[in-house]
Amino acid sequence: MLTDEALLQMAIDVRDRAYCPYSGFAVGAALLCDDGTVYTGVNIENAAYGPSICAERTAIFKAVSEGHHGFTKLAVVCDRDYCQPCGTCRQVLWEHAPDLEILMGGLDGGFRRTTIRALLPEAFRLKEAG
Ligand code: THU
Repeated sequence: MLTDEALLQMAIDVRDRAYCPYSGFAVGAALLCDDGTVYTGVNIENAAYGPSICAERTAIFKAVSEGHHGFTKLAVVCDRDYCQPCGTCRQVLWEHAPDLEILMGGLDGGFRRTTIRALLPEAFRLKEAG
């Protein structure tokens, strides 16, 4: 079984691939699927700013487009004590992983544990959860 520390380390390692020449703020994410597969992601910025994408959405879009649907845990790290997912990423994570546990970490291995339900209460959805 993958430990929290191992998932955080994958996010720390992939963060080196962030493409962030405009903000200089590199973020790494590692998403654990319920079959044990891990998809990583980094933020990828763009000169037009708007088309930029966060690390968390890179990871979950990679996973969904490869056919994964069940997700258990996401680690996200940046060069701070811990890294909070932005509002747009919270909405996207909620859509695909309403039971997701989130490890918000820094580069020294420290982290805070939360859930997508705690980060985004009253998420927008078209249908009531059945
Ligand atoms: N960013 C992420 O990738 N994830 C977050 O949780 C917060 C922000 C990125 C977006 C942008 O490329 C840079 O960090 C600065 O906002």
